[in-house]
Amino acid sequence: MPDPAPLAGEAVMRRFKNILEARGLGDIEAGPVDDAPAPDEPGHPEYHRRRRADWALKRWETATPYRYQNATATDAAVLEWATAAATAPRDAGFLLLTGPFGTGKTHQAYGALRHIADTGPEHYEVIALTAPDMYALLRPQGSDRGPEYEVRRLMRVPLLLIDDLGTEKISEFTEEATYRLLNERYNECRPTIITSNLPTQDRNGPDLVDKLGERITSRLSQMTTVVEISGRDRRRGAA
Ligand SMILES: Nc1ncnc2c1ncn2[C@@H]1O[C@H](COP(=O)(O)OP(=O)(O)O)[C@@H](O)[C@H]1O
Ligand SMILES: [Mg+2]
Repeated sequence: MPDPAPLAGEAVMRRFKNILEARGLGDIEAGPVDDAPAPDEPGHPEYHRRRRADWALKRWETATPYRYQNATATDAAVLEWATAAATAPRDAGFLLLTGPFGTGKTHQAYGALRHIADTGPEHYEVIALTAPDMYALLRPQGSDRGPEYEVRRLMRVPLLLIDDLGTEKISEFTEEATYRLLNERYNECRPTIITSNLPTQDRNGPDLVDKLGERITSRLSQMTTVVEISGRDRRRGAA
């Protein structure tokens, strides 16, 4: 019985070998193939982390007002919280930045959000808004989709910044909305940043308890890193 015809692939390989031999390259062996991806190639964890970070930083830019586009967190306690929020968001709790007007609370807050984006978290989504804008949004005619939709969106977003809480007049409506929102984020352990000009406690003047009520501040006190941002009013000193 004749040998079966060589497979087409084998025939090609034999011809290929003959050509190489004719050129004196017959005994070149194929070397080991290193096909592990480099850090800048798909498949390498660093490549995918960087892609997530670039995407998250774009989202951060969209959520960030022009004035704070270059904001970087410099306060050690703020950075520590941001690192915790990036690595184990459910354990980070809330971050409350207090201090007088112009000391850099909003700057540190956006800086913290940027720091989280830059670590390339698995899932980055952020809403940043001032408390007055938030309450306007939550009013009955405040948005096309209605207050219930908006409050749920704020409850569920992975990262929330409420800037300047406590500046507005407290009403039953604002108290209720703030409580529902913060209580849900507290229960679900979703990282939340709050800034406020009001101190957490002041016997001689208004503080957060007076403004927000005991129900809310007691929630806050259980899981909040409070960072006092002090120093001069940067808006006045600006050259
Ligand atoms: N670390 C910083 N480096 C550079 N500029 C800063 C820094 N912190 C604050 N600023 C600037 O100083 C001004 C006041 O800061 P801001 O964060 O708005 O203060 P606050 O929210 O405490 O009232 C802003 O124009 C801000 O851009
Ligand atoms: Mg501010």
